[in-house]
Amino acid sequence: MAQLNNWRINSESGWCRLTLDVPRASQNVLSAEVIAELDIALEQIERDAPNAVLLCSGKERGFVAGADVREFAKIESGEQAAEALASAHRVFARLEALPMPSVALINGHCLGGGLELALACDFRVAADSESARIGLPEVLLGIHPGFGGSVRLIETIGAPAALQLMLSGRGLAPRSARRLGVVDYAVPMRQLESAARYAVSRPRLPDGKLKGLWKTVMASLPARALMCAFIKRQLRARVRREHYPAPYQLLELWRRHGNDREAMFAAERESVAQLITSAASRNLVKLFFLREKLKKIPKETGKETAHFSHIHVIGAGVMGGDIAAWCVLRGLRATLHDSNPAALANAMKRAHNLFRRRLKSPRLVQRALDRFQPDPAGDGARRADVILEAIVEDRAAKAAVFAEAQKVARSGALLATNTSGIPLEELASGLRAPGQLVGLHFFNPVARMQLIEVVRGEQSSPDSLAAAAAFAARIGRLPLAVKSRPGFLVNRILMPYLLEAVQLLEEGVRGEIVDRAAEQFGMAMGPVELADNVGLDVCMHVARNLTKTYGGEAPGMLAQKVEGGNLGKKTGEGFYRWTRGKAQKEKADSDARTLAAIEERLIFRMLNESVACLNEGIVDGADSLDAGMVFGAGFAPFRGGPVAYIIEQGQEAALRRFDGLQERYGERFAPCAGWKELQLGE
Ligand code: NAI
Repeated sequence: MAQLNNWRINSESGWCRLTLDVPRASQNVLSAEVIAELDIALEQIERDAPNAVLLCSGKERGFVAGADVREFAKIESGEQAAEALASAHRVFARLEALPMPSVALINGHCLGGGLELALACDFRVAADSESARIGLPEVLLGIHPGFGGSVRLIETIGAPAALQLMLSGRGLAPRSARRLGVVDYAVPMRQLESAARYAVSRPRLPDGKLKGLWKTVMASLPARALMCAFIKRQLRARVRREHYPAPYQLLELWRRHGNDREAMFAAERESVAQLITSAASRNLVKLFFLREKLKKIPKETGKETAHFSHIHVIGAGVMGGDIAAWCVLRGLRATLHDSNPAALANAMKRAHNLFRRRLKSPRLVQRALDRFQPDPAGDGARRADVILEAIVEDRAAKAAVFAEAQKVARSGALLATNTSGIPLEELASGLRAPGQLVGLHFFNPVARMQLIEVVRGEQSSPDSLAAAAAFAARIGRLPLAVKSRPGFLVNRILMPYLLEAVQLLEEGVRGEIVDRAAEQFGMAMGPVELADNVGLDVCMHVARNLTKTYGGEAPGMLAQKVEGGNLGKKTGEGFYRWTRGKAQKEKADSDARTLAAIEERLIFRMLNESVACLNEGIVDGADSLDAGMVFGAGFAPFRGGPVAYIIEQGQEAALRRFDGLQERYGERFAPCAGWKELQLGE
């Protein structure tokens, strides 16, 4: 037999153990080589004819993380993709057709191609754990399962549950996967192998009456069509077909071929081969790598993430309270200080809700609450590894907080501010060790936004910056290094877009239409709704700060709203009226041309500011800028970020669009310094 690099075959008492252990990798992924070698291994197994096959992972924790995404990026044509998919299908079919029973031993994450591999086995047993995930997240990369998984998951757990899983890309904990029937058993890790032997020893029960009836109903085209129409309606509320075609294509191939296994396998291959070379998938894959890159930064600095166990947060408002709660949720202890006891009580209430929502089990909620301490006297600052300030945006007040904090802080503690725009140098000027201070700029809502801007003041020491990145990783967030200039990266680019939206409102355009134009482009939320969410007072503050430095002015309507006390969601009225946390939008008609013109105004303001940021070196390059805007501001992920969008439009063509915009709407559309020097690669 040919030498295998990735697989080991061991036989013992008539059982074959087939182990995947990709060399020099912390986790297994299914590359073309791994699949080709599996074919060779299966040939050997067919010859040896053991009593049963145990398919395992050689990694201590983790079965298979998915297909090798690096190979996606190298695929040049649909034909090339179709060929790769066809050989994977052939090998998986061979595994499925083995004459002896096969069991996948799932010892941790089992995702994408990994689950598709496990589904080709007769049985699946999983090690029970809170953190492991089992699922088919392919839609998050702009494709859908392509190794036969769509067919086999539907056969295993039925169409309704399988489609919900595949269309959302959601991962299940092993116990939930067991309840749904994705795996046969979820047992403690040490019992994994005995559970596998037990599974093989028991004949599989035939389908129950209800499952059998479902299968019969779903074999009919009208029944599938009805169900698809229902699911499509839910899907449309989440994603648009023109932006994310993969879930729609998956649904369609089941509607058409759900009663014909072979036809569905073929349609699955064809559909994925086409999707994988689409611009949307390419951009989503690019973002996947950017996320991985940001995740690795703390490791590269050599800082220990485990070092952080206690955070002391000063200021228990919208941000401080939620930041402390998030840190607790991620396993840290937190002390929370505020000069106003009511703010502390409020923050504790919100934290309790968050813990209940996320942790579910009362025991875990209680444990989290035990780690969270309101601290009216501020004593926690003496013991903390990180002291984070999130009080009102007032320079003198913040400087005083740090002067006091540094007096009592442990040596080596990290001092961080959540300021949205006060230059760090000004806050650090009175400090004994100014290098200790960095910015950790979180985004609202804290529990949802993945990014933290790690702000580098001129005085920040490399050691503090490395510690800040490690801390972000410790609490499950992506650290993006940014220069300490007003607005940093995300607010700086977002603000012209928000101000353009207010300008449109002043011109009499309805908020609903402005928002629709942005959502049509692919933004997670329209700018009018976003401004109301952030708080119009906060927007006003940031806008003033930015226009003071970079010029321009905020439309008067923003100030009027703030003066009238209509601050957005938090006061129940801003640009929209808010009821039970929802903006009350009314029906408003508009034609495609108007929407396109609004979209151009909104998006080109952002593109212009993006180029300015690149030119000023606010971040270390185009990729970081794109990552920041997607993970921190909800910029349309399938477009890959503002710079990727400029590249797609063509840099010259994009620049030319400013001529017309400037003529029609004035100086704010003058291309910023930097366009000419910009050298964007393809
Ligand atoms: P907030 O007004 O909701 O809360 C500020 C809290 O600080 C209040 O509870 C107040 O009682 C307390 N406080 C004021 N002075 C204090 C002092 N000297 N000592 C202790 N507590 C004091 O403000 P928010 O929105 O939470 O903002 C806090 C910081 O976070 C600001 O610097 C803001 O620019 C920044 N930020 C805000 C974002 C947002 O979306 N609201 C997003 C990102 C950053």
